[in-house]
Amino acid sequence: MIHFRNVSKIYSGDVVALRNINLDIQHGEFVSIVGQSGTGKSTLLRLLILEEKPSAGKIFFREKDLTSLGHREIPLHRRRIGVVFQDFKLLNKRTVFENTSFALEVAGRSSRDIRRNVSQILEIVGLAGKSDKYPTQLSGGEQQRVAIARALVHHPELLVADEPTGNLDMINTWEIMELLLRINKLGTTVILATHNKETVDRINRRVIALDKGIVIRDQQEGKYMI
Ligand SMILES: Nc1ncnc2c1ncn2[C@@H]1O[C@H](COP(=O)(O)OP(=O)(O)OP(=O)(O)O)[C@@H](O)[C@H]1O
Ligand SMILES: [Mg+2]
Repeated sequence: MIHFRNVSKIYSGDVVALRNINLDIQHGEFVSIVGQSGTGKSTLLRLLILEEKPSAGKIFFREKDLTSLGHREIPLHRRRIGVVFQDFKLLNKRTVFENTSFALEVAGRSSRDIRRNVSQILEIVGLAGKSDKYPTQLSGGEQQRVAIARALVHHPELLVADEPTGNLDMINTWEIMELLLRINKLGTTVILATHNKETVDRINRRVIALDKGIVIRDQQEGKYMI
């Protein structure tokens, strides 16, 4: 589904964030990207969602070379990927329902379609009873669930999560991880950048370890550290 071929990313000021990355991620995988701060995890994710362009190499997503997408194809590509961040980036003046439905409204979907879709997704993330609440009335874990609901609303093939549990306590962290695993089980490929050793060790899924922009380890059923 995803192929990185000799991908490097050099930011301005000669900061080498990724060096000659080669990776293949299959549809349906759950992949954790681990490594020290500044080692290129977020950069790797940003390349996938086209927030950054590689300085060298190619990235293929479902056989398409992302570096050669035309202007019109970029929004379509982005809709195929749901994105979740450490800070939930919710709209505080909008309810849970509105935060989740926003992207569908922008896409011009009918209100019936939107209601059905949003209810289904709020059910999946365990927020069915909270659709009229505002983000400030929710716990951190619940806010992250809203962000996940929003990311899922287009039924993306891939969910990219950059430190989604970075602001959460241990219990909420594990609940969010369980939710990500469930979403993965329902068929969505998940790529997670994380510092959370306990959860990576507990879930026993593929682990890609980066060090200074290089893949130093790529293991199925991997651990945070060897
Ligand atoms: N927009 C940018 N301009 C210049 N340098 C950048 C930019 N974004 C990131 N970098 C640099 O690229 C390197 C990789 O950063 P990146 O954010 O990918 O690391 P990370 O592994 O996600 O770190 P963390 O665990 O702290 O989130 C770092 O040296 C960082 O300072
Ligand atoms: Mg990061």
